[in-house]
Amino acid sequence: MPTVETAAFEAVNGLEATDFARTAGPFARPEDAWRAATRMVDEVASEDGLRVIGDFVLSPPNGGASRDFQTLHCDFGLPLVPMEPADVARFTALYAAVDAAPSEAVTRLVPLRLLLGGRPWPDGEELVRRFAAYGRSHGARNDASGYIEGSLARVVEAALGDPPGLPSIKADPAFLCGTEFTSLAEELEFFSQRRLDLQPVTVEVALGPGELLIFDNLAFAHGRRGTRRPGELYQHVIGHQALQVDQQVQLRDRALSAFAGDAY
Ligand SMILES: [Fe+2]
Repeated sequence: MPTVETAAFEAVNGLEATDFARTAGPFARPEDAWRAATRMVDEVASEDGLRVIGDFVLSPPNGGASRDFQTLHCDFGLPLVPMEPADVARFTALYAAVDAAPSEAVTRLVPLRLLLGGRPWPDGEELVRRFAAYGRSHGARNDASGYIEGSLARVVEAALGDPPGLPSIKADPAFLCGTEFTSLAEELEFFSQRRLDLQPVTVEVALGPGELLIFDNLAFAHGRRGTRRPGELYQHVIGHQALQVDQQVQLRDRALSAFAGDAY
């Protein structure tokens, strides 16, 4: 039985053990890792109805290598202004193929409450008003569907309420989400200019062959530093399928408690 190792992470950032777990395995197959991931979710999740809502291979086996970084995001996005049933990702599990060569890529985990709680923000009601305004003017593709946002930079830009500097998805519906920055340095600079210093709160996890990482997708934004070769990482997303609007609002409000520096 692989051991769940959370102590190192807690020692670094004082986070809850339930936010994040890494197990050394090694797991021989993705299915073995996913069984362990499901057990861990069952132990910590306080919600019913969780199921697998996404299964991916990174980078896709038939494609090329990935970019050399990935911007910070939440899988499936945060339901900032939910208006229709939607899938909401609660836990993301990553498994490094046991036969893959050690990767140069590391997963960047940013605990939202440690990042956002370090500066002042308006109250929750005003934040939601700003999200709605940003969605209408800049961030949402289709207002009738509400505003679900995956990019942490956009969530921050919307929350600040200042004139937006990121490309407008409303003005350019072909804009590819996740391409807001051309380099990791540019992303760090974006946050630093807004008094959000990523580096002290970021935990970088380099998964070795056969290892599993699982984290709460609403408590962390995640991204990548380095390039992934085709087929080296498997991703499993556990969450809610077609979640009703009122339940999305509950999850959103829990996630937004990070702005006050609170765990939910
Ligand atoms: Fe992701």
